[in-house]
Amino acid sequence: MLEGLVMIPINAPQIGEEEIDAVVKVLRSGVLTHGLGEGPMVKKFEEEFARFVEAKYALAVNSGTAALHMAIIGAGIKHGDEVILPSFTFVATAETVVLAGAKPVFVDIAPENYNISPEKIKKAITRKTKAIVAVDLYGSPADLKPIREIADEYGLKLIEDAAQAHGAVYNGKPVGAYADMACWSFYASKNMTTGEGGMVTTNDKEMAEKLKLLRSHGEKEKYKSILLGHNYRMPEIQAAIGCAQLAKLPVFLAKRRENAERLTEKLGKAKKLQLPTEPKNCRNSWYLYTVRFKGSKSEERNAVVEKLRQNGIGAEVYYVCPIHLMPYYRKFGECRLPETEKASEQVFSLPVHPSVTLEQIDFIGETVLHYVE
Ligand SMILES: Cc1ncc(COP(=O)(O)O)c(C=O)c1O
Repeated sequence: MLEGLVMIPINAPQIGEEEIDAVVKVLRSGVLTHGLGEGPMVKKFEEEFARFVEAKYALAVNSGTAALHMAIIGAGIKHGDEVILPSFTFVATAETVVLAGAKPVFVDIAPENYNISPEKIKKAITRKTKAIVAVDLYGSPADLKPIREIADEYGLKLIEDAAQAHGAVYNGKPVGAYADMACWSFYASKNMTTGEGGMVTTNDKEMAEKLKLLRSHGEKEKYKSILLGHNYRMPEIQAAIGCAQLAKLPVFLAKRRENAERLTEKLGKAKKLQLPTEPKNCRNSWYLYTVRFKGSKSEERNAVVEKLRQNGIGAEVYYVCPIHLMPYYRKFGECRLPETEKASEQVFSLPVHPSVTLEQIDFIGETVLHYVE
């Protein structure tokens, strides 16, 4: 990067006076947490988030990873079971399957949207399969209707990793609607943040009750554990930040959309790029604006990313190493996922978060065109 050049980061938390006031208010209240994870701010945040995603129940936890782990054990997954999931995702999607003692079975992606390919799921189902985890990668919804149909046909649970998808819509409904449980992250880079934090949403009352127990040591009453649990409780300060962020989320999403659409206009003439799309009745959350440098090898793609970074554009590659090729995860069996491997060599993401101005978007578009074409 040139000296004195300010980098446009790939994502940035959008924190204002509202979040600061909300934190101070909690600190002054003296109520920092609740023994069973059900403090007043947590309850408020859960109600408001459930309303936003049109789910009946929401359970706040202290990370997206905790949300996934809780959903996996909530679904009854245990040692000896198999769970089908994409390899082209953040490692937490697979990690939580392994933490539950189950085997991750990786399935290839559809090249258009980088999400798990419904057609390829059936072939991976065995007698040990208990669940499918679909990820809405980059905030672009997975094709959930056919996946739901497969899950129903084979009696499998469907868990949605919606960590990147706050505000995304599938078939006219907020993502999560087709899943038994949807898992969200409020990590600092996400469309809305609590610093660290997460949420599980579900329409299943019994499951919501079980998740509540799993969140706090298996306790319905203090010191009387009725099942094996964790401490996955969200602190009150985090929930207060979450409420302030959720109130602003529609504005954040609108700005991300404006930036993404402008970038698509700018890059539209680039023959060598595959741009992100939104199928009918679907909306991206535009967590990441990810393009594919068609036909490139990773070295060529990396060279473009490096040039962009030298020009102050915080381009990043998600994900440079698919999970099935990570050293730890190779032990779950050799598999060839050609679309996943190709995508990991060709994609790169560009900043469209709410702090990026339209002038910066134009600069990003022109700079990308310059180095790619
Ligand atoms: C797809 C995906 N799954 C899971 C996670 C885990 O969330 P967290 O970082 O809040 O634990 C993340 C976020 O980092 C993610 O992007």
